[in-house]
Amino acid sequence: MSLKLRDGTRIVIDDPAKVAAAQQYSFTLKGYAPLYDWVKAHAWRMHAPPGGHDVMVTNGNNQTIEMVLRLFLDRGDALLCEQNTYPHIFESLVHPAGLHTVPVAMDGEGMLPGALCETLEGFAARGERPPRLLYTVPVGQNPTGAITPEARRREIYALCRDHGILILEDDPYFYLQFAPGGGAPCGLTGLGASYLSMDVDGRVIRLDSFAKVVAPGLRLGWVTAAPAVIQKLVFHLHGISLGACSFTQVAMAELLQHWGEAGFEAHICTMQREYAGRAAALQAAAQEHLGGLASWTPPAAGMFLWLRLHGIPCADAILERLQTEKVVVVPGSITHCRGPDAGRPCPFTSRPLTDPRM
Ligand SMILES: Cc1ncc(COP(=O)(O)O)c(C=O)c1O
Repeated sequence: MSLKLRDGTRIVIDDPAKVAAAQQYSFTLKGYAPLYDWVKAHAWRMHAPPGGHDVMVTNGNNQTIEMVLRLFLDRGDALLCEQNTYPHIFESLVHPAGLHTVPVAMDGEGMLPGALCETLEGFAARGERPPRLLYTVPVGQNPTGAITPEARRREIYALCRDHGILILEDDPYFYLQFAPGGGAPCGLTGLGASYLSMDVDGRVIRLDSFAKVVAPGLRLGWVTAAPAVIQKLVFHLHGISLGACSFTQVAMAELLQHWGEAGFEAHICTMQREYAGRAAALQAAAQEHLGGLASWTPPAAGMFLWLRLHGIPCADAILERLQTEKVVVVPGSITHCRGPDAGRPCPFTSRPLTDPRM
């Protein structure tokens, strides 16, 4: 096998054992050993989980979300989540599984701990079975772009602890953090304290992905959780897909070995610079064409600009027109965790920070 990088470097994989591993089922249960080792060392460097956790290489966050929901929730169970959230899993996994989504109010800095507290007290007051799982996207949230500050995360973690709730931390945009007004990329330092880094009792299941920083087509990521959870996920992953894709695991392991930690960080800096540039270009365009007509919080992470349209109660009303004009937006209404509802007008749209050439 040989991989050609954009800078012309060629990585040749000709060790027969590696070539064979790339073409076989994933026999090492938690992932191809060199990639598992990299992921574990890297996760420990980034998060230093305090509670005896373990990792497993996955086929990306989406599939792992499905596995976690299946493992912990039954039809009719409540799933706590940010009010506006990653629509794909709700449409295709959460609603068809018959789960009862419980929206928690949010602002420009993500989920509100006060609202979470009220919601949980409501369950207790009504004598209902309390939720077991909270799903959250804490950085560059899809679709709002919000980053939940550390103090809020600590409050949310404490509430989950008090109420016996597991936290599914879906963090694919973690590395795509940038200074809103330009400035040097932060690389791997100063990316903030994850829920995993606070997890003294193994209630956090953290999902990382190579999708947003290398390529989504690799279908590769990793999960960090309590060993008992990892063990269940190992059986589940092997049951449904015979493990993470061996071919991309070997290729990714070779790429990471070629880069080394410093090269990986240099690549992350390039991505952060790229997304800072896209965010600035998109905001300049919004300023020019939507000044006074829309408002937004400058994104500091991820791939989305969350626009509140002024004087338009529901952004759905102008969707057809936007399509005619070839403007790509996600209507805010479809990002409500309970799905679009005519009785719940939404004045927001989310604009992906796609390559300006697209
Ligand atoms: C919040 C969120 N989670 C997960 C995913 C999918 O991640 P992966 O490609 O690792 O399955 C996306 C992709 O857009 C996303 O926005």
